Amino acid sequence: MEAAAKRCQCQSLRAQDERYQKLAEIIAKHAGESGALIPVLHQAQQVFGYLPHDVQALIAEGLNVPLSEVDGVITFYSLFTSEPQGRYKVGICLGTACYVKGAALVLEELKKQLGIDVGKTSADGLFTLEVTRCVGACGLAPVVTVGDDVYGRLSPEDVPAMLDKYIQAERNGKA
Ligand code: FES
Repeated sequence: MEAAAKRCQCQSLRAQDERYQKLAEIIAKHAGESGALIPVLHQAQQVFGYLPHDVQALIAEGLNVPLSEVDGVITFYSLFTSEPQGRYKVGICLGTACYVKGAALVLEELKKQLGIDVGKTSADGLFTLEVTRCVGACGLAPVVTVGDDVYGRLSPEDVPAMLDKYIQAERNGKA
């Protein structure tokens, strides 16, 4: 009874959420097509920013594919994520040039400052930590990207001030 009430409340919240209406349209457009799963996941991720479990379940049902297949595709392709994403993606390059110049130490400091591991999002929802391959700025190694900003020759000591810039901007509503 309680579960049914919860489901009912959840469905009514979804009905008010435009994103679920868009998802229904995307699924309806591709239902019955072969090979529809990846394009639908891609479009759903654009709508939601990530692919939460309930979205995966709706896609599985709508496309008539097993939920395990949906989960398998999301796990296999790195462009898909089932984790909520932070406002800023913080990417530490672990390409050879950056690694040689101490990127691993910068990564440890990023983990410490953000309190998260690679692939996770900070508790305040601001930052998602990622490892990248060479971003083509080897002369600036080690390189960190925050959103569209690129930081070169970064030492672990530079990390707090770099992150603080975004935290302050967010607090001041300038982000
Ligand atoms: S290896 Fe890091 S930018 Fe090239």
